[in-house]
This record gives sequence, C-alpha cells and structure tokens, in this order.
Amino acid sequence: MRFISVNDLKEGMIIGKPFYGQTGYLLIQSGLALTAPVIAKLKYLGYMGLYIEDAFSEGLDIENVISPETRSKAGKSVRKLMTAAAKKKAVLFSEAVKDVLEVLNQVIDEITGSGSVIINIIDMKGYDAYTYQHSINVCVLSCVIGMGFDLNRDQLYKLALSAMLHDLGNLFIDKEILDKPGKLTADEYEVIKTHTAIGVDQLKLRYFFPSSVIAPIIQHHERFDGGGYPFGRKGAEIPLNAQIISISDIYDAFTSNRPYRKAHPVTEAYEYILGNAGQAFGAELVKSFTKKIAPFPLGVQVLLSNGRKGIVFKHHEDNLIRPLIKLEPTPEQPDECFIDLNNDVESYHITVEKVLI
Ligand SMILES: [Fe+2]
Repeated sequence: MRFISVNDLKEGMIIGKPFYGQTGYLLIQSGLALTAPVIAKLKYLGYMGLYIEDAFSEGLDIENVISPETRSKAGKSVRKLMTAAAKKKAVLFSEAVKDVLEVLNQVIDEITGSGSVIINIIDMKGYDAYTYQHSINVCVLSCVIGMGFDLNRDQLYKLALSAMLHDLGNLFIDKEILDKPGKLTADEYEVIKTHTAIGVDQLKLRYFFPSSVIAPIIQHHERFDGGGYPFGRKGAEIPLNAQIISISDIYDAFTSNRPYRKAHPVTEAYEYILGNAGQAFGAELVKSFTKKIAPFPLGVQVLLSNGRKGIVFKHHEDNLIRPLIKLEPTPEQPDECFIDLNNDVESYHITVEKVLI
C-alpha cells in the first residue's frame, strides 16, 4: 500500500483503504478501482490523496491507529455534541456527552492495545469536516504523545476528553472572523482568543466536567515561553495535558487545509515543532513528539539526496527520521532495491530531501 497525492491518481488504481466522506460515512470501499468521477470528486472536496495497492508497494501495510469504525463513531458523537452546544439543546447535549465519554473508552482501548503506535499524519486526513476531524485527530495525537509520559488510564481518559473538546468555543466565534481568508486585524485576533474561555463557559453551563478536564481546554493556547494566551503562563505552570494538546493542535492544524491557507507539507510542520523546542513547546514534550510522530509517513514517495526516488517502507522506532526506503527502479538498476537509512553504513551520507506529495 502506498500514498498517492490526489494530483497523481489515475483511473484503474486500486484503493488500499476504505474512504470516508465528510459525514463520517463510508464513501468508497477498499479493493475497488478508481474511476474518473471519483478522482474528480476527491479533488473537488480538497482531499490530499489516498492509499492505493500496487505491486511496487506489496508488503507495506499501514495499520490504523484507531479503527475506521471507531473513528466514524467518534466523528458522529462529536458532531452531535457540537450541534447540541451551538443550538443550545440541553437534553441533546447531555446525551452527546455520554456518547463521547463512551467512544473515548474505545479510542483509548485501541491506542493502548496496539503496542507501539507511530503516527502517520496523512493517514488521519480526509475523513470528516475539519472541525470534527480536527477534534478527533488532536484527541488521538494527544493520547499517543501522552502515552510517552506514562500517563495512567484515568489521566489518558481526561486528556482525551479535554482534547476532544478543546476548540468547542470556536462554535461561538463569528464565522467570518474564524474562517477569514486574509490576515486578521488585531481586534479580530482578540475575538479569536476568546474561544478558550467561551468554550469552558459553555461546557460548564451544560455539564459537570472536573477542573482537570477544564484547565487544559482554557490553556491550550499557552506557550512554554509565556507568550501564549489567555494567562501568559509559562513552563510547568501550564498543565501537562494543556501542553500536549497544544502541540497536537498545532501539528494537526498545520497539516490541514484551512480557508486562509493550504496545508503545510508534513515535513515543514514537523520542522516547525522541532524549531519551537524551548519556545512554544517544552523540550521534553518535543522529544516525546519525535518518538511518536513520523516525519516521513509510511507509504509516501520521497526524493533522496542521491537523486533516487522511493517510498517510505518501514520505520525504525528508535529513529523515525531514518526509515527504510524502497527505491523505484531505474533503467540502470531495474531490480528491487532498498536503502536502510538507519542501518546501511554506506547510506549514512544519504538524506531524505523531499516528501513528494
Ligand atoms: Fe484553539
């Protein structure tokens, strides 16, 4: 299985993973051949690409961090919760909270049950409308990073819940400001900044959430160096869960298309996180991030510094930045060939120059 950018999809390619539409329902089953209308639809909907099966990528399996069914269930429950909050429907809100609380158990069971989890962020795109998809992605990323801090189940559960609800306040922000295509004015930015407090106020109005769940929601835009909002807290003054949600939030948002910009390439988002160690994020947190998040996702095509192209075939858990690459054949070297950037001594000078998606 390999990941193909939406612009490189061709009729007849075999779909490698089931594909879910904007409402969380199954859109295309795996194993089917792509058709021109489906490719056109994927382009129209703004999807980054999808996984296909071909002979070249045989043997490369990409495991789901959470199953598509759980993901779809989480999407529906968070959609119901946000709709109820926005429409101020108290009974529906209580019901939706119960659905969310239930599905989070499933999310945590799957994440903690699958041993070591490496996140391939492109695998987490294209399931649902941004708001719901982002909530679930931040929840999954936060849990996976949280596991690196040896959080127990109860702590992970609270982290997952705060992450799922972290941007609820955005529902109450003027859409024209929230989705403004251009640069925000200073006043508009002040309005955006209120979403953390509004989210918490709205949650408190409708349900009892413990302060350990509420505090990370209001502080998910604090920065390690004290330059964040709403309180300008720094370092250990910011709860660990808020710091984990912050790094997950920024990584997922950077790698997503937004009304005001296109998605940043995955490697750029990764470098941004690394470059902010000790500034926006604590150095220990960034270290945990690099142990769980793959800078070069499995199955993507890459260009190496020696001019050869290939796909990321396998990760080394202790060094995600130096994966095993399967080289594309050339007229000079038509046979199957791999370069292990981590273990082949003669390849130590070779680097991944670019991800080609
Ligand atoms: Fe936010």
